Amino acid sequence: MALTRLDKFLADRTPHSRSDIKKLLRAGAVLVDGKAVSDAGCRIDPDAQEVRCGGKLIRGGTHRYLLLNKPEGVISATEDRDHKTVIDLVPEELRIKGLFPAGRLDGDSTGMILVTNDGDLAHQMLSPKHHVPKHYLVQLARPFEPNYSAKFESGLVLSDGMHCLPAQIAPLDVPGNFALVCLHEGKYHQVKRMAAAVGNHVEHLHRVAVGGLILPPELPLGGCLELFHKDVERMLKTCETLDLRDQIVMDFSSYSINAGI
Ligand code: URA
Repeated sequence: MALTRLDKFLADRTPHSRSDIKKLLRAGAVLVDGKAVSDAGCRIDPDAQEVRCGGKLIRGGTHRYLLLNKPEGVISATEDRDHKTVIDLVPEELRIKGLFPAGRLDGDSTGMILVTNDGDLAHQMLSPKHHVPKHYLVQLARPFEPNYSAKFESGLVLSDGMHCLPAQIAPLDVPGNFALVCLHEGKYHQVKRMAAAVGNHVEHLHRVAVGGLILPPELPLGGCLELFHKDVERMLKTCETLDLRDQIVMDFSSYSINAGI
């Protein structure tokens, strides 16, 4: 990575203002490779040097990728006057400026959401052109009917006339009307409206995978973990619905506990 000014690096990656950063530098609270640095204009290589501010390690690299298990009632937005947002779930030490949720889940939905500052990656993940599959564990109000799979596959038409791309739905061999749904696009309330179009109703929706990256079953609701490059690349790949279904059935108790079901 190119060299960057120390004060800019800290301003981009910490919640501190430029004037706070000057004070911290003067107070000897900023260490580069273990040595206090007071010069705000000092140039550093964030990939090769270790920077600490007030004892905390400040991570280098331009982009950050965080995987969250969104609880019910938390909004997929950067700020909201009345509700907690997914950004509020990011622990202080992982916060940097410019984080936003790549995609959205309804307020009453739970599960996997990526928070990043990488707009290009978000675009690739969300654009229907890239066909990144998203998998949802859903609990239906009524039993799964065998004709749902063909109806989803043929491209459902929603109540407002909107046409959906072919999607997949498969029942789960566990008690409680659970199914796994795979979408290749993201229309408003899409899974709920597709369930309504086949005469059923979604009681609970939990996103379990984006592309080939699966939500770790042990990540609790409200939990957040940092992803590294290989995980991010996996997110742009595909994932077979039937393989994922077997995995979810195997780990079902962890998934349902972590979905609050
Ligand atoms: N489809 C829905 O209906 N809701 C979500 O939160 C995500 C997909």
